[in-house]
Amino acid sequence: MFSLFVKGSAPAYRPIGAERSAECALIHAGSFAYPWAEADFEQLLLGQEIVANGAIEADDRALAAFILSRAALDEAEILTIAVAPAWRRYGVGRTLLATHIASLTKLGIRRLFLEVDTQNAAARALYDAAGFRQIGERKAYYRKQGESPASALVMRLDLGGQV
Ligand SMILES: CC(C)(COP(=O)(O)OP(=O)(O)OC[C@H]1O[C@@H](n2cnc3c(N)ncnc32)[C@H](O)[C@@H]1OP(=O)(O)O)[C@@H](O)C(=O)NCCC(=O)NCCS
Repeated sequence: MFSLFVKGSAPAYRPIGAERSAECALIHAGSFAYPWAEADFEQLLLGQEIVANGAIEADDRALAAFILSRAALDEAEILTIAVAPAWRRYGVGRTLLATHIASLTKLGIRRLFLEVDTQNAAARALYDAAGFRQIGERKAYYRKQGESPASALVMRLDLGGQV
């Protein structure tokens, strides 16, 4: 049967911990202009309030993508999501986000927030498709190398069917 995954087998979606810090930093550096250090990921991933999921390559068990949220009571905020460049446009980001939302829902999270660069068409399409809606805008929120700062949209998704 036709497979969507021309790049090897489909990854497995699982919770991740601090042992994945170096891989997270590597993928982050390939995804953002201002990368976070391995030590930053280690500190985050050791935090009790952090919920983290990864997409693990079936073949060599390397990390293909990750997502981190910070949870407090029944609310959470997505801190970062990134898919390794070689794995983009295979549906990994969509499945990872859905897996993460399911994990947060199980933990009792009812409202999920995020900020996204208004100029990030890929991420905005991903979040729109997942049902996030805009609730605000922060002007000049993201630094840009050699450009004016970009605004951030603040988005919210209600989990579990009720508010
Ligand atoms: C945004 C990102 C996570 C998407 O991951 P991905 O695995 O490539 O996304 P998917 O293949 O699951 O695509 C899901 C949907 O996202 C949207 N999308 C993804 N890449 C896109 C692109 N380059 N242009 C427009 N829409 C895009 C589409 O709506 C897509 O659905 P479709 O394939 O049915 O059209 C990935 O591009 C990435 O890591 N970017 C760099 C880091 C980043 O910007 N993170 C978000 C910070 S807020």
